[in-house]
Amino acid sequence: MSETYAVPTRVTQGSRGPIPSAEAYRETWLRAAANPDRFWLQIARERVVWRTAPTIGLEGGYREVRERPFTWFADGTLNVTETCLDQHLATRGDKTAILWEGDRPGETRTLTYLQLHAEVNRLANTLVSLGVRPDDRVILYMGMVPELAVAMLACARVGAIHSIVFGGFSAEALRDRVLDSGARVVLTQDEGPRGTKRVPLKATVDAGIEGLDVERVLVYRRTGGEVPWVAGRDLWWHEQVSSASPEFTAVERGAEDPLFILYTSGSTGKPKGVVHTSGGYLTYASYTHQVVFDVREDDVYACVADIGWITGHTYIVYGPLANGATTFMFESVPTYPDAGRYWDMVERHGISVFYTAPTAIRAIAAHGDDLVKRYDRSSLRVLGTVGEPINPDAWRWYYEVVGEGRCTIVDTWWQTETGGILIAPLAPATPTKPGSATLPLPGILPALVNQEGELQVGPSSGYLVITHPWPGQARTVFGDHERYVSTYFSNYEGLYFTGDGARRDGDGYYWITGRVDDVLNISGHRLGTAELESALLTVDSVAEVAVVGYPHQVKGQGVYAYVVLQPGFEASALVEEALNGAVRSIIGPFARVDLFQFVPGLPKTRSGKVMRRILRKVAEGEAEALGDLSTLADPSVVEVIKCGAKV
Ligand code: WT7
Repeated sequence: MSETYAVPTRVTQGSRGPIPSAEAYRETWLRAAANPDRFWLQIARERVVWRTAPTIGLEGGYREVRERPFTWFADGTLNVTETCLDQHLATRGDKTAILWEGDRPGETRTLTYLQLHAEVNRLANTLVSLGVRPDDRVILYMGMVPELAVAMLACARVGAIHSIVFGGFSAEALRDRVLDSGARVVLTQDEGPRGTKRVPLKATVDAGIEGLDVERVLVYRRTGGEVPWVAGRDLWWHEQVSSASPEFTAVERGAEDPLFILYTSGSTGKPKGVVHTSGGYLTYASYTHQVVFDVREDDVYACVADIGWITGHTYIVYGPLANGATTFMFESVPTYPDAGRYWDMVERHGISVFYTAPTAIRAIAAHGDDLVKRYDRSSLRVLGTVGEPINPDAWRWYYEVVGEGRCTIVDTWWQTETGGILIAPLAPATPTKPGSATLPLPGILPALVNQEGELQVGPSSGYLVITHPWPGQARTVFGDHERYVSTYFSNYEGLYFTGDGARRDGDGYYWITGRVDDVLNISGHRLGTAELESALLTVDSVAEVAVVGYPHQVKGQGVYAYVVLQPGFEASALVEEALNGAVRSIIGPFARVDLFQFVPGLPKTRSGKVMRRILRKVAEGEAEALGDLSTLADPSVVEVIKCGAKV
């Protein structure tokens, strides 16, 4: 049986948020469920600075989504930067907007709201002078420097659409995204320091865009290291921006105009460009950041994700800035110079809300409690996690060792496509259970269905779906609306399919069990098995390959590859290196196969379909429970696979 933790008094005391208690949560959730349209319209009007306030909530819905995307607040106009910056200038102009810590402990920078506003305007003027127009796509391939946030906001200010590519992606992956988005301008930096390494960002851009129609590359100088240069195309950021004016009138945008594209892996094909729009996304980012974390005026709020993923978009930049918070940005890794880095920063900066991923918690916990206890963590109040299911042991360690039982834990379930958190405790209101993301936010209507799409009631298990749109939901896949429809809305008519499985207990709490499609979640980063397989197949000696996930102590899931070699080739450490080399160059250094098993063949049905279920079971160490094998073309292959299993 799982225990329930009441919210510590330190967390409930002094809450000024709109949902300070369990009763307020229940009341708000019911009110929102009764009329989501009215609920969200009111929140949008309260929280966002509009040029023209919207009068319409939702138009369209899941059933008509094939014909046209649903919309929120369609008659509203705004520029999101006026909510994130301008509105704060009079009241919080000298408040720190961005508090940055570099790779080297203690190397810090701060930008007040006034300074951030001026920097964004300078870059906005620069972008316009480079020819960037509203609706143009701009690729950002940068590390965790304040200038990355400045770049996002400058794009938004001029009405351009940013598409951030995580710095751990390869030149090839970057190239795919530049091509798919049709971007003609790329913003990057010379190098990104990470622990003892320097990530060669500019050199990777050069390799990635070779031969493409990219007209301008603007390069922020971070390390001063030598970088390749293409005269006539490349420009130094500091040379352009220092002479640009700190005034810029934000471009008016429709609520449904795209704000950004973020590429994410699916179960098939190449990554898709998930499109988020302006008014609805901002409404949702602002509201969820406030109610989940209960952020207060003098908080130092720290989300240590990378801005290259959706977590950083919504909960480092747009949500916190919309709420006038001080948002922390961290350039380095949790284990540099040692595994006490996070708590060292908590002490030095007085961080009160701290948001990270289970994989980081597990990695740090493995180094022992001393590296935590050495630092003063009394400033902490709320501890968040995101990205993958958190195992109860890691949860308790976070709660007891890091938070000393004084803080509440918010396990937040959401996705790139959802724009913001959908299922999570509200810090001051929701009793927690280790391992459960708990309850849906107001305005969010989740459900569980079985294979046939039948809704399950009460305590049950099934596929997690959402039955009604919310403002932060992605509207389409860039350039491929049909793919959006077939990925999310064709499994179950009229329902958004999340791709996750879940259980709901007797208190209505959700327990996310993980992906049910062919998407892996490695250290909280999404990787498609199809993507990994096509990278592995580029290696000459490979005939066939199938990739599945398996339970991994630190990463949550690890990558397990079954490889059939061409005749005449033999398994060796060198072949494994070549295979991982291909993964590194096609996807990026953050992706790799953890375990290889070389097999004489893959288990297939008589019609030639690989039976992944069997491969998954073997990789999970459950080779004894394979179930019905009678449909296999050659059942003997399974015996060989079981004998050679790596787990
Ligand atoms: C997938 C989405 C949301 C930002 C980071 C990942 C898994 C996410 C949780 C959680 C259990 C979680 C799901 C989801 N996931 N948060 N709290 N508990 N699983 O974004 O790359 O779009 O991946 O991450 O499987 O579908 P993403």
